[in-house]
Amino acid sequence: MSYKNLKTTLSDGIITIEISREAKLNALNGDTLDELAEIIGTLSQNLEVKAAIITGAGTKAFVAGADISEFQGLNESDAYKFSERGQDVFALIENCHKPIIAVVNGFALGGGCELAMACHIRVASDEAMFGQPEVNLGIIPGYGGTQRLTQLIGKGKSLELMMTGDMIDAHQAFQMGLVNHVAKDKLEALTKARVLLQKIMTKAPFAIGAVIDCANAVFNQNTDGYQVEATAFANAFKTQDFKEGSKAFIEKRKPKFRGT
Ligand code: COA
Repeated sequence: MSYKNLKTTLSDGIITIEISREAKLNALNGDTLDELAEIIGTLSQNLEVKAAIITGAGTKAFVAGADISEFQGLNESDAYKFSERGQDVFALIENCHKPIIAVVNGFALGGGCELAMACHIRVASDEAMFGQPEVNLGIIPGYGGTQRLTQLIGKGKSLELMMTGDMIDAHQAFQMGLVNHVAKDKLEALTKARVLLQKIMTKAPFAIGAVIDCANAVFNQNTDGYQVEATAFANAFKTQDFKEGSKAFIEKRKPKFRGT
């Protein structure tokens, strides 16, 4: 599958998806969002892919936001659909059962910060800058940012960032809990992400998908997260991987999980 605004490479089961509109600081236009939806939608069926990295082309930007040029002429109903579309695509990422890490290599503003937050883990390079500057345009985050930023860093800090539109650097983002790790540059951040994913990929795939579902359930007000956990816990006992994992522990060897 070839894409106009994404570059993909697959190695050792990890697909790297690079948002590639460098001249526009990788701003997410409608086409790019569609391509992202398509590729994330294929991840669960693609047996060659075990995990993913999402990053931006070059070193200046991860994603500098939704493409502001596409805002012109949107009326209220268009804007509602625009927001829902972005929310749906980012929900695909958040709910994917294969681990997805954002490698944030520069500006992650507006929709870029929201994209990073939809990923399961964030690794930033030293150059990364985060922010939700929508108030500067007279609007607000619309791709889930008001929710995920508050979930990740708490209401006080989230409101400060969203109300001031200020940018923070990678180290401030780390201190706030917005990113998991900071690396010295993009290359080191990509390496760190691969090391994390390689470790996660040695675990039972069912268990990885189940912890993603359970952590997401915390923020779903229509769901009892404890019930989701108990059900997923019980389902884990039906898998061959559970039998293999517990047997390997008794036999003092490393388990060989097969995803069954
Ligand atoms: N949408 C569309 N185009 C964007 C963009 C966005 N979100 N962010 C950057 N670009 C474009 C610029 O228009 C410019 O295009 P041009 O060369 O054709 O004029 C190009 O990317 C380079 O950006 P530029 O502003 O010249 O770079 P800079 O180094 O001076 O500033 C930023 C970098 C990130 C501070 C600045 O681009 C910016 O503030 N971008 C918007 C961020 C934002 O508000 N995002 C939330 C949107 S809801």
